[in-house]
Amino acid sequence: MKTIIEPFKIKSVEPIRFTTKEERIKILEEAGYNPFMIRADDVLIDLLTDSGTSAMSSDQWAGIMKGDESYAGAKSFFRFESAVRNITGDKFIIPTHQGRAAEKIIFSVLGGQGKYFVSNTLFDTTRANIEFSGAEGVDLLVEVGKHPEQKAPFKGNIDIEALEAFIKKTGRENIPLVIITVTNNSGGGQPVSMQNIKEAKAVCSKYDIPMFLDACRFAENAYFIKQREKGYENKSILEICREMFSYADGSTMSAKKDALVNIGGWLSMNDENLALQCRNLLIVTEGFATYGGLAGRDLEAIAQGLEEVVDEHYLQYRIRSTAYLGEKLVSYGIPIIEPPGGHAIYLDAKRFLPDIPAHQYPGQAIVGELYIEGGIRACEIGSVMFGKVDKEGKFIPSMMELVRLAIPRRVYTQSHVDYVIEVIQEVYNKRSKIKGVEIVYEAPMLRHFTAKFKPLS
Ligand code: F0G
Repeated sequence: MKTIIEPFKIKSVEPIRFTTKEERIKILEEAGYNPFMIRADDVLIDLLTDSGTSAMSSDQWAGIMKGDESYAGAKSFFRFESAVRNITGDKFIIPTHQGRAAEKIIFSVLGGQGKYFVSNTLFDTTRANIEFSGAEGVDLLVEVGKHPEQKAPFKGNIDIEALEAFIKKTGRENIPLVIITVTNNSGGGQPVSMQNIKEAKAVCSKYDIPMFLDACRFAENAYFIKQREKGYENKSILEICREMFSYADGSTMSAKKDALVNIGGWLSMNDENLALQCRNLLIVTEGFATYGGLAGRDLEAIAQGLEEVVDEHYLQYRIRSTAYLGEKLVSYGIPIIEPPGGHAIYLDAKRFLPDIPAHQYPGQAIVGELYIEGGIRACEIGSVMFGKVDKEGKFIPSMMELVRLAIPRRVYTQSHVDYVIEVIQEVYNKRSKIKGVEIVYEAPMLRHFTAKFKPLS
């Protein structure tokens, strides 16, 4: 087979500013060892997130010029609505400014004290919005998904037996919604199989509980289904996406991922009464029902992005370039979640730095080293993000200690990826000298964004 090439030419470029290692040591210190606090201009390769960092196509930029900025009933809204409906099949399509705005609305309507929202794995903002409403979030990931070193095709699946057991134990009246996150971001960007979505829906239907998709990376999930699940090899990506959504009663979406835009999202559903309540809240907090906190031009760019993201050449390049990074790291003995996920490679910090305990945040220590060594910005997904302290003051670590290298869509070329591999190798080679960190400041919620750290001596 020939080399899989980037299925695009580059029309406009953005220069990268180079820094020295000495400069980066100082910058990191000033940022409290938290890469979220570093200026983007001080970063060489930014793998902090794949969210809102996509390069838009010339057709999307053309859409930006065509945006209809009418307050109500803009032409751009109807193009957006029909593009979203083309994939989800849902009746009611509510634009929001990003994914968490959709979450805020749905959980304000359905949440509250005594309620439980069940998922394969909730993303951190999703969980935060659930908890903010007074409700609780419950993750029921399949066992294999909790073991970074174990390979399986669909490590993002929800545990169907555990789901049914939880419903029986908790009572269906206390579970307003089940949410399947595709792909499972916090669990390593791992896909969910069609079979699993179907079975989860069957359980939900049995107890009359609606099921939504957190659809951020739906196209990447569909590509994995095509590659790995029997019976889907000859289906088009669009057909697979439609089938995935056909089992769901609605979706929350951050268009900043698989709609290939820099801002936007939606909330979609089939229940008219629920849609009415959500729209009413939307008007209070986001904007009128036909723009939801976005400009008309953003709606155009999303509509165009949704056409481009289901292109198989794009997805082949996308998934292959992530796998390339993962496979190279594995070949050098560097521990990652295997097999590689869709949008990111996750270093397994527990095996990378086995001598650093969870309460000294091994993932955060690696993140700091990657920045100092090569100007690479990555994100800890471990006990900084999910660690908790119980009522007795005992530290409860995250299930996994990971460092996410998220790959922005259509932004970096293969030589950028090769550089990233070299830097990780250098950090790995000197791993015995790396020290843990302690937290010196933290916010009460979503602390990873603003926490300050100090390296342990
Ligand atoms: N759900 C999932 C699975 C996500 O990955 C994200 C965002 C959201 C919901 C919230 O969407 O950012 O538009 O409000 N994930 C980003 C990330 C931030 O870096 O993984 P948002």
